Amino acid sequence: MTERTVLLLSGPNLNLLGEREPEVYGRTTLDELVLAARAVAEEHGCGLEHLQSNHEGVLVDAVHAARGQHAAIIVNAGALTHYGWSLHDALAAFDGVIVELHLSNPQRRESWRSTSVIAPVADGVIAGFGADGYPMAVRSALRLLERRS
Ligand code: DQA
Repeated sequence: MTERTVLLLSGPNLNLLGEREPEVYGRTTLDELVLAARAVAEEHGCGLEHLQSNHEGVLVDAVHAARGQHAAIIVNAGALTHYGWSLHDALAAFDGVIVELHLSNPQRRESWRSTSVIAPVADGVIAGFGADGYPMAVRSALRLLERRS
């Protein structure tokens, strides 16, 4: 295992951050979120890779490839959060730390967003803090890794 390497996964529509429903998701672009997350990882001597896809199978493949390669996965699965069972199953087969991440707080939005199929396989969830959630998620993943070692 490449110790202390984090994989950040971004699901459908997150490539549009900055333009998409800014009143819900803010004006920070995905590139800016990734830079902020990577800066925190690097402060802690850790690498961070990022992949965004609008396709569930691509994300499933990335989780498979992360096995034995990354110590932690931080995943904002977008709407797949609520129904992406193949992503759930892939994450269940990953034995590193898993942090579920959202910009908004899905629990206070439409009722269909209240179900997360990621939460049952996540070690922790960060939601509702907007762009600040990205550095928080990296710090939290690294803390959980420390606790495991
Ligand atoms: C989201 C919340 C999801 O319900 C939604 O489908 C997204 C973004 C968030 O970051 O707040 O695409 O994951």
